[in-house]
Amino acid sequence: MSSKFPDHFLWGGAVAANQVEGAYQTDGKGLSTSDLQPQGIFGAITPRVDGDSGIKDVAIDFYHRYPQDIALFAEMGFKCLRTSIAWTRIFPQGDEEAPNEAGLAFYDRLFDEMARYGIQPLVTLSHYEMPYGLVKQYGGWGNRKTIGFFEHYARTVFERYKHKVQHWLTFNEINMSLHAPFTGVGLAEDSSKSEIYQAIHHQLVASARAVKACHEIVPGGKIGNMLLGGILYPLSSKPEDVLETQRQNRDWLFFGDVQARGGYPAYMRRYFRENGIQVEITAEDQQALRETIDFISFSYYMSGCVTTDEAQNNTARTNILNMVPNPHLASSEWGWQIDPVGLRYLLNVLYDRYQKPLFIVENGLGAKDLVEADGSINDDYRINYLNDHLVQVAEAIDDGVEVMGYTSWGPIDLVSASKAEMSKRYGFIYVDRDDAGNGSLERRRKKSFYWYRDVIQSNGNSLKDKA
Ligand code: BG6
Repeated sequence: MSSKFPDHFLWGGAVAANQVEGAYQTDGKGLSTSDLQPQGIFGAITPRVDGDSGIKDVAIDFYHRYPQDIALFAEMGFKCLRTSIAWTRIFPQGDEEAPNEAGLAFYDRLFDEMARYGIQPLVTLSHYEMPYGLVKQYGGWGNRKTIGFFEHYARTVFERYKHKVQHWLTFNEINMSLHAPFTGVGLAEDSSKSEIYQAIHHQLVASARAVKACHEIVPGGKIGNMLLGGILYPLSSKPEDVLETQRQNRDWLFFGDVQARGGYPAYMRRYFRENGIQVEITAEDQQALRETIDFISFSYYMSGCVTTDEAQNNTARTNILNMVPNPHLASSEWGWQIDPVGLRYLLNVLYDRYQKPLFIVENGLGAKDLVEADGSINDDYRINYLNDHLVQVAEAIDDGVEVMGYTSWGPIDLVSASKAEMSKRYGFIYVDRDDAGNGSLERRRKKSFYWYRDVIQSNGNSLKDKA
């Protein structure tokens, strides 16, 4: 395939602090909401007892092994690595005035190591975690005060890393709060719709304040949002199904509308009114929301369907968003439907809607890997998945969509977010650790490692039209 990818396309990978770092109490780190979810986002929220460790407490020990891992990313030719800062390393309880120097120093070391290889950081301020102290003392994002704590944290890290980090993201998959309120906004899972949307509103205001702070502090800095790009198709051509699909797509596009357009879209007023949802939005909030993002970033793993037919609505739903399955698509071992064309469609939908540059900051296949007797790992299924998605990215670029980069999810095996499993592997690099936490943590290159290195080296020329 001849390359359609622009020069300076940001090829790389994406990880998150709580899924790789481990060291959950090292150098003064406080407890985060993620530390209270040893079984993952959909597991129970567990009060921590020292010594009662979940798999994330060590994760893949990136906190100590990052120099080796960055060297492997560099060997693949990464131009960019997306990671997050653990808020609790900087402000252990969340409401301190002074930051924790040891936490700040860790990310200095990490960003310096990346710079040695010319790898640009793309940094998420909050990836599925916040200080548990803010949840306990203040009620998480349900409390307006959390906006100020977050802004203080954002300003602190912008000041500290302004000459090391150019690209920032505010909240990972900000729309996920609708499905996982504790993970997203630090609220109980059985919170009311009004409570959840109020917390979301506070988070949207905080996101806009961070955008303003980034523009003020980081010279030439660019900051984006981050959406879970769960695009939905109508299951049939019945007009009611098409309309309901539009409505459900707006459930998540709403976040992008606020962050990219600077205010609440009109359709939300009706949604709030008809569902008895009360949200306090002050004039000052409205003013703050006018500060819009520079680019849109999103994750893409799968698409889903929508139907108004009750019988079909009862079909088994296996993916993270409980979408109605598409009869035309195959699924991964975890029931996530594989739809490369959906990525081209989604890129076009987002570009038509916002006319802002797009950044694909997560995409990948979670699968079980087998280490052969000779130590090799032949993950052709992963190569095929990624190849087919990247071919569609190239098509979207040809359609005229402005795409800044592509960071595949989990370039090194890590702890999965939904169920805290190690066996759901995404990496080009294998990590010797199982679901029970056994293993040497040794790193090993998979077949896909060499494949991705060739893709980057050829700027996409080595992709095959059909895997
Ligand atoms: C996204 C998250 O939802 O999907 C990541 O931003 C997560 O944190 C990824 O790991 C894949 O989900 P899972 O459950 O397979 O890890």
